[in-house]
Amino acid sequence: MSIAQLIILVVLLLLMTISQKSDAEFEQWCVADEQTPDNELQAAMDWACGKGGANCSEIQVNQPCYLPNTVRDHASYAFNNYYQNFKHKGASCYFNGGAITTELDPSHNGCHFEFLP
Ligand SMILES: *[C@@H]1O[C@H](CO)[C@@H](O)[C@H](O)[C@H]1NC(C)=O
Repeated sequence: MSIAQLIILVVLLLLMTISQKSDAEFEQWCVADEQTPDNELQAAMDWACGKGGANCSEIQVNQPCYLPNTVRDHASYAFNNYYQNFKHKGASCYFNGGAITTELDPSHNGCHFEFLP
């Protein structure tokens, strides 16, 4: 193998490593869809925080994600918590069409929307 071929090989390997890395850093959160009515979001959130197994302690009164106290904001937190914790076990960000994924971190003030790689 010539030096030139070796250099090309090394550059190709570097490029492959870089593109794999950016794939791994692709972050998505799951939030309530703006089109979904509150009653549907409420029902989906009740499921997520109950049988779904999401940890909804942060959206309770006096907790960091209680404000803004809207069904939409609380549902977003619950949907994301459920999705992050169970996506590796086949959970999807769907909730009967009431949820969508976003690449913008929905965290605000002291309220942290977790992302698990
Ligand atoms: C739920 O989350 C809170 C804080 O975010 C944590 O203190 C608590 O241990 C969690 N509960 C469970 C069951 O994981």
